[in-house]
Amino acid sequence: MTGIIDRSRADSRADIYDRIVAERRSVRAFLPTPLPADLITRLFTVAGRAPSNCNAQPWTTHIVSGASLARIRNVLLEQARAGQIDPDVPLTSTYVDQYKARRIGSAVTLFEATGVGRNDTEAREASFLRNFELFDAPHAAFFFMPRYFGLREAADVGMYAQTLMLALTAHGLGSCAQGALSHYASAIKRELGASDELICLFGLSFGYPDEDHPSAAAITDRAPLSETVILHD
Ligand SMILES: Cc1cc2nc3c(=O)[nH]c(=O)nc-3n(C[C@H](O)[C@H](O)[C@H](O)COP(=O)(O)O)c2cc1C
Repeated sequence: MTGIIDRSRADSRADIYDRIVAERRSVRAFLPTPLPADLITRLFTVAGRAPSNCNAQPWTTHIVSGASLARIRNVLLEQARAGQIDPDVPLTSTYVDQYKARRIGSAVTLFEATGVGRNDTEAREASFLRNFELFDAPHAAFFFMPRYFGLREAADVGMYAQTLMLALTAHGLGSCAQGALSHYASAIKRELGASDELICLFGLSFGYPDEDHPSAAAITDRAPLSETVILHD
């Protein structure tokens, strides 16, 4: 979608919104510069305006920075190298048919952008491990909800996270939602002192994007509307 917005037009609110949505991308390389604390407060306050079933706001978010971030990064890398996953939400999804096609059908894949060959197992593994390095971000957020909630509330948490990601983009910042981080839910909860009554849905690295990193050249596209939206008159 990037590039279809005409920047020469006078910006209406809708134009600005479209542009923010189009500019958001999964950032997989960050500069080390931390965000000011008051900006973090502002961003997560905006995220909290997300809608939710019955306004229950089922999310509990742990924001990790500084020494805590260094610790959790080490724990995640250790766990990922050991390879024994322990997610709260089982990894049961398989992508077939059009979902599989979309998964691999980016205009410029991350592997192409970063020069990782199709059969280069070692480089692919290193690329996956970047998840647990938090893509060098100075901050990470981990999104939890009570274990007794279900799909409805998980959808609420998704809306909350997207509201956050768009707010980050509006401030010239970047983020990457990371299901991979939830693979080591027990270790994360232990490290953060979070109750096991909560389940970890996913994490999110965020900060200032490193626009010069090769990964910034990856481009995803989207299925045509006719594939995903059905109109009824
Ligand atoms: C809930 C969720 C989990 C994701 N998990 C990961 C992940 O573990 N690692 C990763 O690099 N990207 C992850 N992504 C990013 C997707 O790959 C990305 O959103 C998709 O390819 C579209 O690209 P875009 O975000 O750049 O538009 C995740 C996205 C979402 C919404």
